[in-house]
Amino acid sequence: MKTAVYPGSFDPFTNGHLDIVERSIRVVDSLTIAVLKNTSKKSLFSPEERVEIIQEVLKDYPQVKVQTFEGLLVDFCRAHNTRIVIRGLRAVSDFDYEHAIFLMNRKLLPDLETMFLMAGSDNSFISSTIVKEVAYFGGNIADQVPAIVLERMKKVISKHV
Ligand code: PNS
Repeated sequence: MKTAVYPGSFDPFTNGHLDIVERSIRVVDSLTIAVLKNTSKKSLFSPEERVEIIQEVLKDYPQVKVQTFEGLLVDFCRAHNTRIVIRGLRAVSDFDYEHAIFLMNRKLLPDLETMFLMAGSDNSFISSTIVKEVAYFGGNIADQVPAIVLERMKKVISKHV
């Protein structure tokens, strides 16, 4: 059985992430979405809220699990007995960062394989950071995040504005 981990911040989970999940489960049997508990980053949703939201978005995919993680990704992969990491690549601008993570993870766990899926043209401009900013200033992001995410974002943002 092929298992993979799809790590990230997912603050928030976008249609770009959803596309990567849907395409990944065509090539692996089970996928664990690993939501980083990053205490230094100011976030819209807590890691636990992100897990809950992603679980709701993906409730029709029994082969996808969602959980938080902290510490090194390679330790999470070891603990979950998986050697495949999935990452999405949008544009050349993602490359240097992804390459550095790939090389470091490979050094730490040599039999770890990272599979990069290229974003399709509809999703290649979607970024959690930009989506947050546009939503915060009242812009329309309805075609960039799942409906469940949009609802939750509206609630959080309305409390802060
Ligand atoms: O969605 P992001 O923020 O680009 O995801 C980055 C992530 C979570 C994949 C990366 O920061 C990570 O794996 N962090 C865990 C700590 C770690 O393993 N660091 C060494 C490789 S960068």
